[in-house]
Amino acid sequence: MVNVAKQVVRTSLNLTDQDVLEIDCWSHVTGLASQIAAEAYKVGADAQISYLDDGLWRSWFEMDEKYIARKSPISAALAETITAYVSLWGPEDPSVFDRSKPERMAKADAWIKEINDRQRERKVRSLFLGLAQVTPQRARKYGVNFAKWKRIINASLGADLKPIAAHGRLVSKKLGGASDVQISGEGTDLSVSLRGREAILEDGIVDANDIARGHLQSSLPSGFVDIAPLETTGDGDVTFPSTPLWGKMIRNLRFTFSGGRLVDYKADKNVEAFANYFKASSGEKDRIGSLTIGLNPRASYLGGFVDHFVAGAVTIGLGGNQDIGGANRSSFDFGATLQKATVTADGMSVVEAGKLSKGGSANLFRASGRGSRETAQISLYAERPLSRSVKIASVVGARPQFIKAAPVSREIRQHNEEILVHTGQHYDENMSDVFFEVLDMPRPDYNLGVGSASHARQTAEMMRGLEDVFEREKPDLVLVYGDTNSTLAGALVAAKMGRPLGHVEAGLRSFNRSMPEEINRVVADHLASLLFCPTETAVDNLAKEGINRGVHLVGDVMYDVALQSAQAARSRDILTRIGVRKGEYVLVTLHRPSNVDDRDVLAGIVHALARSNRTVVFPVHPRTRKNLEAFGLWEELWAKVKAIEPVDYLDFIALLMGAAKVVTDSGGVQKEAYFFGVPCITLRDETEWIETVEDGWNALVGSEPEDILDALEKFNPAGTKSKSFGDGHAAEKIARILDKFV
Ligand code: UD1
Ligand code: UDP
Repeated sequence: MVNVAKQVVRTSLNLTDQDVLEIDCWSHVTGLASQIAAEAYKVGADAQISYLDDGLWRSWFEMDEKYIARKSPISAALAETITAYVSLWGPEDPSVFDRSKPERMAKADAWIKEINDRQRERKVRSLFLGLAQVTPQRARKYGVNFAKWKRIINASLGADLKPIAAHGRLVSKKLGGASDVQISGEGTDLSVSLRGREAILEDGIVDANDIARGHLQSSLPSGFVDIAPLETTGDGDVTFPSTPLWGKMIRNLRFTFSGGRLVDYKADKNVEAFANYFKASSGEKDRIGSLTIGLNPRASYLGGFVDHFVAGAVTIGLGGNQDIGGANRSSFDFGATLQKATVTADGMSVVEAGKLSKGGSANLFRASGRGSRETAQISLYAERPLSRSVKIASVVGARPQFIKAAPVSREIRQHNEEILVHTGQHYDENMSDVFFEVLDMPRPDYNLGVGSASHARQTAEMMRGLEDVFEREKPDLVLVYGDTNSTLAGALVAAKMGRPLGHVEAGLRSFNRSMPEEINRVVADHLASLLFCPTETAVDNLAKEGINRGVHLVGDVMYDVALQSAQAARSRDILTRIGVRKGEYVLVTLHRPSNVDDRDVLAGIVHALARSNRTVVFPVHPRTRKNLEAFGLWEELWAKVKAIEPVDYLDFIALLMGAAKVVTDSGGVQKEAYFFGVPCITLRDETEWIETVEDGWNALVGSEPEDILDALEKFNPAGTKSKSFGDGHAAEKIARILDKFV
């Protein structure tokens, strides 16, 4: 864990007993501000914390305009005294900006600029700490994943600065002075000249060399190269997929430049967030300001905030650029990021489709741990339809729920309004975001960023978040899926708040109460007013518990998805990529606590797989991976089995369709094996999907190694699949029932 206070004081600003430090912070980060001040005292520096909260912020802009325009004597005095400045600026909840008026704030521009100029003259070093802005409220407001944001910031803070600096020097050399720079990408084709301009390497440290060159600012996390284009060059278009600004996520913001001047801008969504800020600003605000190339190999795209320092990210700035050696003077200082751009400088490749070009980056970064990851766009901005008749809050959180919600969400939005809430139960990119992409799902309106914890804590944290969302959105109905803790939390909060509940995949029973899922299902079913059953067995199970009202046999939504995705899965090349041939391998998935949380049981399964003499492909669930490592079983598995990261849904279906057999303890995979006619060996003693067993396609073998080996050898079902999981239109049926729900 990086000690941020130490890094700020001792490395980034290198404070001594000659320094006077001002720390600007908002109320939620006073703790961090104190730590930095305390660390400054240790080296003999003086330190002062300036504090702001939402109330003060509002009061400041509610005061008479003539006072806003008057130079603050306190700020002016500080500008004459301080030698270093740390910004932990930004409210915990950016909703406070909703009521701020840029034109009123602009009244202070003149004196703020005077103070900034004075500080520059006095060579005050400053550091911006991006982590103060990482709050659940901001994540929710902009629709980005909080847990992921925190992880990116932490990972980026821990990045090795040496390869960053090394590659930064290389990029700086290519860019510095280049007269013909071309930037291209989706919706982007821009040329600029950097003649006579020097690139500035931003590596998180303000050292003597930077100070000598007038470069007094840095930030943490860090890792990018900045350069000011000639302000009269810049022709063409540039399109930024997602840009957060003053509480809004701007979607597909498109700039048109001519002779370095911004001549037109538009956006698919929230263009006014940019327009208001832009109009209220003064000076050379419409001039191209900067070209930035990201260098941090541990960063990944979030859809704003951190994107500019992702290795290979390209950011274009507008307005004020004196700090980096440009000629624009303006109160406007704006930048937005492209994710998959290509940049050439005088014919030399700098960035190729979002990746730093050869000549260092790939090798340097791979050597430093995680490679610079090519991440697809993950802007989780709110995509809210206009108000419709029934407002449905859908709660999802774990991998199988994204898959189940995909077709239902599409159908619901035909006639109704849906608020999609992601609890954050699963958060790894390959357990969460990839499903939204490959299934072409709307991005969640809210992500509660709950993450992993014990059952009670995880569920409680979800309940708190859901209560806030339901309070705010006042849905007519809450819809939950399957049987995870996210299902339970959604069901309980809906019931406590008196909101009707719908349960997709209702009525399933394993009759094994030691499974957490069984508890979750029973509770959800008993609280639901609408119960959408996938099979007749499910309807019967409910009837036996006295639940007859609101029960609808609609079919299985996973069958809908499987049918809709088969074609696309066939064109995936995952088999080639991992080096297996159709029909010649066994596919394995495991994640049930009863199989993977007990060392002896898991060891038995691993030994059986290793001894089977079969090619085994095993996308390893994170829970299982953690335990394999903790139990010291990973090496054995790795030696004998193609253990891979969890794959996206289409790759998984491709692997499944090509498998000779499947070994699993997953609920969803048992069904999918049945849909595609692949023999399924289930490492459990019972199943909710009894139809697959009755038809002979699923063998329940438990977790004894000999039984697994025996089934791998001998289990060869044939014949028809007679049982019904619906007609592939379950989602449509659910949506039409919801249409009529009042
Ligand atoms: C959960 C559901 C289970 C469902 C499964 C689907 C509950 C009680 N369990 O089990 O019904 O079949 O999802 O996959 O709701 N982890 C990561 N990254 C992630 C998610 C999890 O590293 O993105 C690790 C963490 O160490 C975590 C562990 O996996 O502690 C278990 O995650 P959790 O969501 O608690 O349960 P699952 O086993 O995934
Ligand atoms: N799946 C996937 N990638 C993987 C493993 C599984 O997309 O690497 C899909 C699989 O196709 C199925 C679903 O995830 O649709 C099952 O999820 P899981 O086994 O995690 O949960 P369960 O169904 O047991 O609740």
